[in-house]
Amino acid sequence: KVGEVATEKGINAYVIGGFVRDLIIGRKNLDVDIVVEGDATELARAFAKKIMGKVHIFDKFKTATVTLSDGFKIDFASARTEIYRAPGALPEVDTAPLKKDLFRRDFTINTLAVKLNGREFGKLIDFFNGLKDIKEKKIRVLHALSFVEDPTRILRALRFAVRYRFNIGKHTEKLLKIAVRKNLFRTVEGKRVYLELKHIFEEDNPLRIVNRMEEYGILKAFSPRFIWNRKKRDFFERIRKIVNWHKLTFNKHKANYSILYFAAFLESLPADEVDRLLKDFSVPDDEANLIKNLIYRGRQLAVKLERESFSNSELYEILKREKEEMVLYVAARTTKEDLKHRLLEYLKEWRDLKLVITGNDLKEMGLKPGPLFKKILTELKHRVLDGKVDNEYDALEEEVK
Ligand code: CTP
Repeated sequence: KVGEVATEKGINAYVIGGFVRDLIIGRKNLDVDIVVEGDATELARAFAKKIMGKVHIFDKFKTATVTLSDGFKIDFASARTEIYRAPGALPEVDTAPLKKDLFRRDFTINTLAVKLNGREFGKLIDFFNGLKDIKEKKIRVLHALSFVEDPTRILRALRFAVRYRFNIGKHTEKLLKIAVRKNLFRTVEGKRVYLELKHIFEEDNPLRIVNRMEEYGILKAFSPRFIWNRKKRDFFERIRKIVNWHKLTFNKHKANYSILYFAAFLESLPADEVDRLLKDFSVPDDEANLIKNLIYRGRQLAVKLERESFSNSELYEILKREKEEMVLYVAARTTKEDLKHRLLEYLKEWRDLKLVITGNDLKEMGLKPGPLFKKILTELKHRVLDGKVDNEYDALEEEVK
């Protein structure tokens, strides 16, 4: 459809980058990037009108996003067209703007394009041997200054390598090592590094990526006091299991999974170093507070729950005001299997436990609404949680007596 609109308007449009890469590899990707040789906003508007989708225009950057109901998000951007066309040159063969646009990108596997309009609809455009590198399972930069231009690409290289089980090309690896040795991360805005770390922690297996970061000395570049040992790796592995469990079990309660990894990532650092990194990374206050809460209160909570044995209802009272992330974090933190199971049980069953009995039943028994209602119902809930109730009505009568 984008192609139809582009053809009508006589504009060259290409789907590029991650979407094409994942199409070839066979991985789901709902983010479509379209590069337009011309005004991207015009094409986006016309396309949105045609499919009756929602369009959001960013005038300043001449880009636009169209959101589709089935989860697809289509970004439109204009290729830089600073190259002057010779009068009479055929636009069909003038791919200079596209090529320039693709050359600015990180790795060859991200530079593939598919033409969407005109007679060449569906043609794969591969200026930089991206297809060959996908086949060879190689992450390669396009030029020697790639990591210098944007050091966050160091992290992206490791993320893609682990995600697709690709290797990093020899020359690229050399450049990567030099970039780390020169500690080029210092030259990037911390905010951007943080964003890349978050992407890492959103992947299926962050543990393997952090292992690679350690291998290349990146952790020490962040902080010389970084410790990455067996204990940390096990912690990451437990988080992964709990995150998978949570994803499978719920669709109602969403949780910020990447923050669990981020807190675990920072946990062994001294408090002043944690503060420094959160500040350097410009972590927004609400996230920084949650991370610190997970680290410090999470630790206290884990110690308390491991030390004493609480009844179900006591556990319920301790946890009921805690965030989803806190319960998950403590469940991942503890090595005590039974405690972990009870915490997950809390999330799955107890937290949302609904009594059969309601306030109406109490009214019918002739009780007056008021604070007593809540007290009776809470007490009943506790007794249900502790497995002391066979029949709620009998239990209620007993209690009211
Ligand atoms: N890009 C880049 N340098 C960066 C970040 C991004 O060159 N530091 C380029 C990449 O070529 C990428 C494109 O911008 O294909 C879009 O970036 P993004 O949406 O972050 O990447 P995807 O490749 O789609 O990765 P993911 O599958 O993780 O979303």
